Order: sequence, then C-alpha cells, then structure tokens
Amino acid sequence: MSDAIHYFPKDFKWGTATAAYQVEGNSHNNQWALWEQTPGNIRTGDKAGLACDWWRNAEADFDRMVDLGLNAHRLSVEWSRIEPREGYFDSAAIDRYRQMLLGLRQRGIEPMVTLHHFTNPIWLEEQGAWESEAVVPRFERFVAKVVQSLGDLCDMWCTINEPNIYAIMGYLTDDGHMPPGRPGDFNLTLRVIRNMLLGHAAAYQTLHAHQPLARVGIAHHMRAFQALRPNNVFDRVVARLQDYAFNQSILEALTRGRWGAILGRGASQSARAVRGTLDWFGLNYYSRTRSYFDPKRHDLLFSNIADTPDGEMSDHGYGEIYPDGLMHCLRRLARYRLPIYITENGLPDDDDNQRPAFIVRHLRVLWTAAQFNYKIQGYYHWSLIDNFEWGQGWRMKFGLYAVDPQTQARQPRNSAWLYRDIAKANALSSEIVRRHTPELSPVLFP
Ligand code: BGC
Repeated sequence: MSDAIHYFPKDFKWGTATAAYQVEGNSHNNQWALWEQTPGNIRTGDKAGLACDWWRNAEADFDRMVDLGLNAHRLSVEWSRIEPREGYFDSAAIDRYRQMLLGLRQRGIEPMVTLHHFTNPIWLEEQGAWESEAVVPRFERFVAKVVQSLGDLCDMWCTINEPNIYAIMGYLTDDGHMPPGRPGDFNLTLRVIRNMLLGHAAAYQTLHAHQPLARVGIAHHMRAFQALRPNNVFDRVVARLQDYAFNQSILEALTRGRWGAILGRGASQSARAVRGTLDWFGLNYYSRTRSYFDPKRHDLLFSNIADTPDGEMSDHGYGEIYPDGLMHCLRRLARYRLPIYITENGLPDDDDNQRPAFIVRHLRVLWTAAQFNYKIQGYYHWSLIDNFEWGQGWRMKFGLYAVDPQTQARQPRNSAWLYRDIAKANALSSEIVRRHTPELSPVLFP
C-alpha cells in the first residue's frame, strides 16, 4: 500500500494549550508580575503587559480554534485573580472564567482547566509559596472554590503544571530566569516538588469530593535523557540518574506512593497520600537532553547537561527537535494503563520553517503509539498563539498564529492550516506525511 489514511482513535481530542499569565494580560497580583519589574529577570526586558488580551477578549481566539476544527483546549485559571487576598474570593473574576468556559462549550470545544500553572498570588509567595507544606490546605481551599464555581462547565482538571520545571527553574538552575530566582538549593528543590505533589493529591480528593465524575490528572514534563557520549559509561550512568530524578521519581510517587531515593532526600512526610491520585496522565514533551559526567558538579551528583552536537535545534537554542523521545516517554507511561493526553508539545519557530515537520513527526509517533494500544486520548499543541514565554519574554514564538503584542494583530502561520487539516480529518494522510516528512515512509504501520 503506498497510500493510507492513519486515523486517530474515535473521540480523540485535538486541542491547543495556554496558561493564564501568558495570555490574559493585565495580571498584576502574582509573583511573576513582581519578578518582571527587576531588570535582567526577563532576558529580553519584555513585560507580559496586555499579553494576548484574553481577559478582555479570549473569545476572538476561541473563534480561531473553531476555524482550526479543534474540539478541546487546555487553559489555566489564575489563582491571584480568583483569590486576590487570602480567603477572599472575587466573584467578578469567577464570572469571567465562567464566561470563558461557556464560550468554549458553545463552540464545541471541551475545556481542560489547569489549577496551577507557575503563578502564585503575592500573598502566597510572601508565605514562601510551595517551599512550605502550609501551601497544601491553601491550595485545597482554592480548588474547592473553583470546582464549586466552575464544576458545571468543566470536569476535566489538570491540577498542577510541571512540578519539576517549576522547582528546578526557581531553585536549582538559573537558566530559566524564573522566580524566586534562588538557584543552587537541591534540597529545597526536592521539597518544593514534594509539596506540589501533596498539593496535587489534596486537589484530587477535593475535586472528587465535589464532583464524583471529575477526571483529574497532572501535566508532567518529561524529557529524553541520553548519554552525551553513548560509549562513555559515566555519561550513561548520569543519564540514568537524571532520567530517574526528573522523569521517573514523580511517576513513582503518583503511582506507588513512594518518594524514592532522590526525591525522598530529607522528606519528613510520607508519599502515601499521593498514591493513585490520577485518572489520567498529562505529558508535556518538548525535547531531548544529553547528559554527561562532570567531576566539578559534586553538588549535582556529578551530572551536567548539554545539547546534542549537530542536533536540530529550534529558535534561540530552545531545544533539540527529537520526536523519538516522545515514544520513550509514552512507552514508560503506558505501563500504568491510564489514559494519556499530550498536554503540551510545540516549539518556538518564528518563520514556521520547522513547525510543520515537527507536528507531523510527533503525530506519527503518537499514531504509532495508539496502534500499540497505548491509551492515547488527546493532543494539545503548545500553543494556539504566540504568548509571553516567561523569562524569555516575547522572543520565543510558539504560536500556530503569530501575535504582535503591540497591535494584538494575529496572523496564521502555515502550520495552523496543517493542524486544521489533521484535526478535521482526525487522521494523518499519506499525502500529508509525504509532504512534511519526505525522508520517512508515508505508510506508518509498525
Ligand atoms: C510550560 C509553558 C511554556 C512552554 C514552552 C512548558 O514547560 O508549561 O508554560 O510556555 O513549556 O517553553
């Protein structure tokens, strides 16, 4: 057979993903709004400002989702808007989120709501945010309010986005320029991850208590770790170690209720409450990391990371394009027999010369994984529109649509139409596969 239409499972979710602070605009009450004020914290000196103006008019972009034939969208609610002061809930903010969720529903788009995507209200940040276990009941109270207020419009909940990235960027490395900007504290990094997982577990119970049929998951960032020098035994050991610390220990806590050797360092609380608190897995997959043994890094168990020499990088060296890594992650997740959603996958690519092939190459992997009977149920591309890319400001262009933050003008990139064609057909045709990945077989059967 030289031509085939590779259908995705029935009811597959085709979506995009965004986060409140990156798109809403005029958000002044969280730690990122403070962080932006200090010169140097945002590499480009940019500010989120009006972002993509969603607080006023997300609906115009919801219409674009309809143009693309999407049936799902992942967005987050901003804690600092809903609970601007501790214990006080703002009904106008809640109403705006109700309007947004209704707007999605009316367009046939199923919302997935993330409850924490990197931002903390200033009042929480002043109390140390996720550094202290005191955050857990506070998060629980916020989640209870959200499910009581929005639960008629949403039953698909993503508790926390990327505990590992949040903790590592804030407390271990300064690469990401993320608050609180206190790099080098390994033990605190681990404690923050543990508190986030305990917060996740509390949210899971709360969501189910208020909404028995809630579907609750987490967005876990996984990367493919491989030895920089494949024949070097030390590099291989370091790659295993990093994979375990970054990818696996979080999976083990969530499924077996154990912190394990690394995440458990200095733990005062058991992980038992975290066990079994998932109805589905969310995988954020972007890239591969090459690991190497570095005798100078005794603080990090002698491990360091690098880019692949000659690897295909996306804009500004953001990351290597490595679709095979998606299969490594999916194979790992499939063992747990839970439904899997790709809650983020994308790249910065201003001129859109890499994105079309990126999308097709990753979707080929996803389709193949579905043929292995892995429970792949949806794909949320990061992102619909260019948005405020945290410490990188506006220079990283992740959107299917280009956005000019000054004028708010949108311009579809070619990949928007490619993604539309795939989503509308619920399939990858050989014609699309051939056009965008001519070096690979147009027929995907494994
Ligand atoms: C985060 C997003 C971010 C994206 C691209 C993910 O780690 O969840 O907020 O914009 O990566 O860097």
